[in-house]
Amino acid sequence: MKILVVGGGGREHALVWKLAQSNRVEQLFAAPGNAGTARLVENIPLAATDIDGLVKAATTRKCDLVVVGPEVPLAMGAIDSLHEAGIPAFGPSRAAARLEASKTFAHEIMKKCNVPAAEFRSFDSFVEARDYVAQLSFPVVVKADGLAAGKGAIVVESFAEAETALRDMMERRVFGEAGDRVVIEEFLEGREVSLLAFTDGVNVAPMVPVCDCKRAFDNDEGPNTGGMGCYSPPCFFDSGLVREATDTVLLPVVRAMADEGWDYRGVIYAGLMVSEKGIRVLEFNVRFGDPETQVIVPRLESDLAEILLSCVEGRLEPAAIRWTDRCSVGVVLASGGYPGPYRDGVPISGLDSNDADVALFHAGTALNDNLGTVTHGGRVLAVVATGDGIADARNRVYRNVARVSFPGMMYRSDIALREVA
Ligand code: AMP
Ligand code: GLY
Repeated sequence: MKILVVGGGGREHALVWKLAQSNRVEQLFAAPGNAGTARLVENIPLAATDIDGLVKAATTRKCDLVVVGPEVPLAMGAIDSLHEAGIPAFGPSRAAARLEASKTFAHEIMKKCNVPAAEFRSFDSFVEARDYVAQLSFPVVVKADGLAAGKGAIVVESFAEAETALRDMMERRVFGEAGDRVVIEEFLEGREVSLLAFTDGVNVAPMVPVCDCKRAFDNDEGPNTGGMGCYSPPCFFDSGLVREATDTVLLPVVRAMADEGWDYRGVIYAGLMVSEKGIRVLEFNVRFGDPETQVIVPRLESDLAEILLSCVEGRLEPAAIRWTDRCSVGVVLASGGYPGPYRDGVPISGLDSNDADVALFHAGTALNDNLGTVTHGGRVLAVVATGDGIADARNRVYRNVARVSFPGMMYRSDIALREVA
């Protein structure tokens, strides 16, 4: 099989790393990829959003499968275009991708199939939204309806903060058209977990659950980021809860999409809050998570290429997928200043110093003719280790983190600490 992976982050490096282990895979490509994927496969210099270019690249290279990583090309209809060109492609159609691309759409689907979520209201008018929040008690959550690179949800503690968030989104348009509509949600308390699953549009195969640490600094302080580290599994989310979330959240949504005729063969990802009242959905994504994927694929014993193909061909067998009991921990190494402004082009040292059984996934990296591998983004690398238990995986991961460095490098030192403390 020849497979093209679309995207250039840590998620895509992890996918390529796992696919490269498959006997069924004869050739792999990444578009655009990064300096890490370049070590394993041929990078094609195309933006992940250049859909015509991707269709052409997959056609001329006779790809048997295209896997689309990021949400933006999915929301633009990349899968529909690939299918129209006769290329098997893993991911939701444009219609199904609205589950991530519009929070109002996701809430409407959840309401229709009784999936537990926060109370919500949607608004297209700033004045109406402001009048509504004036009656609420705080905290509440103000969210841009559309795609905002993980930055579109703001927990507000007062009317003044809510008004500022609404003005930023709806009048100053800091998230562009994604904030022209807003969703105001009830604030949920509890413990957060990400549950991703493969789907062929009918069957749903949950992956191992993951906790993603989103705040920039230790002790969950500082601004929200795309994710500073992950671990799997969280002790509070056992196999019973995985089954419950699959039956009460993932399956009903996949079936509702199928009933509407919205083609969905890819990953469904539920961000969940687990509280005393039970499981509540915070958000849906329609793709592999980043950095969740980096800690999930090292736990997958089955052949990833075969699973992806079985989804696309409508013959996913959930019971056939095998996971290891070993735990995994991943720590993101980020550029100084992230998630605010940071400097690119900084040389990285220690890239080949990791233990053989510890993965070093590249995210924001690039190759420079003079300097070698340099930083090229906010989240630069993820170091991922598995171990017999979380404590063992943590020890291994931080031992390897200490061998990588670049000026300004920052990372959290407490990933998965709460599991062992
Ligand atoms: P989202 O973009 O919807 O995933 O939200 C980003 C982050 O904001 C989540 O991972 C949560 O930590 C937080 N969040 C979102 N919605 C809520 C909510 N209704 N209650 C509490 N926290 C929330
Ligand atoms: N780590 C969160 C996401 O992929 O959206």
